[in-house]
Amino acid sequence: MTFEEMLAGRVRECESVIRTFLPREEDWPRQRQVLEAMNYSVLAGGKRLRPMFILETCRMYGGRTALAEPFMAALEMIHTYSLVHDDLPCMDNDEYRRGRKTTHAVYGEGMAVLAGDGLLNLAFETAMLSFDRAEGAEELSRCARALQILGRNAGVYGMVGGQCADVEAEDHPDRVDRDLLLFIHKHKTACLIDSGFRIGAVLAGAPEKDIRALEKIAENIGIAFQIQDDILDVTGSLEELGKQAGSDEKDGKVTYVSLYGLERSAEDVRRLSEEALALYDGLEAENGFLRSLIVSLITRKK
Ligand code: IPE
Ligand code: IPE
Ligand code: MG
Ligand code: MG
Ligand code: MG
Repeated sequence: MTFEEMLAGRVRECESVIRTFLPREEDWPRQRQVLEAMNYSVLAGGKRLRPMFILETCRMYGGRTALAEPFMAALEMIHTYSLVHDDLPCMDNDEYRRGRKTTHAVYGEGMAVLAGDGLLNLAFETAMLSFDRAEGAEELSRCARALQILGRNAGVYGMVGGQCADVEAEDHPDRVDRDLLLFIHKHKTACLIDSGFRIGAVLAGAPEKDIRALEKIAENIGIAFQIQDDILDVTGSLEELGKQAGSDEKDGKVTYVSLYGLERSAEDVRRLSEEALALYDGLEAENGFLRSLIVSLITRKK
């Protein structure tokens, strides 16, 4: 089987897990609109990388996927909510996402705000379902630790904190230096990737040394992922990306590309990813598919 075939299979696997935990619109007639907007944004597709990282790190350390599933759905809900809010007119003001009109373009701004709120709360309700699936005290405490990672990385110390600095930077482009840009990339993007890498490992009972290494691996991959996103915003197209290119320039954002140019940005994506791969190769467990996935992100086109 080629890597592309394996990847397609993993995406299908993640999709079917995510679907299990989505709300049934027909059961809630009074809040049907917000549920429709939530499902519209989650089911639009997307690469499903974050739940895939949970699944693969859990497998890598021989964990039970039953425990990982609620977290996979939860992390994708949090990621999707962050995109719905990120696209709002008061933030990046974008019209396309995942090959469709953005949630606010279809359902209106109020409903898009609520769909994001709904997804964020449903995410934690869903993650807590892992407690019902845990067998014994050890698994319960792993679920609790995974929940802490999920919360910390999503909130003001994580993704929301990064988005806060990103919004402020838009008003003060002159203040954006390397340090601030790396803070933004690490928090708005690498933190949710970190949830992907560490939650699966924690649920599977991976050695502490490896969990610490995965944190550094995820930080590098996450920063590289956002640099590549900044590159694709310049070099990509709506057809390839499923979102409009040129969004950063339209918003007057300082990005990795506007600071360092395309060539240096691509070099840094490679350097950060290679550092991550060197650490990855020192882990106690191995997962060839996950390694190939990390390599494929270096030259991703969407
Ligand atoms: C988009 O993330 C937002 C960033 C952090 C750059 P993805 O590129 O993973 O988006 P989807 O999930 O595939 O739509
Ligand atoms: C946002 O980064 C990352 C989030 C936390 C949503 P971008 O604003 O660059 O993401 P895209 O390009 O809209 O997907
Ligand atoms: Mg943004
Ligand atoms: Mg954006
Ligand atoms: Mg972007």
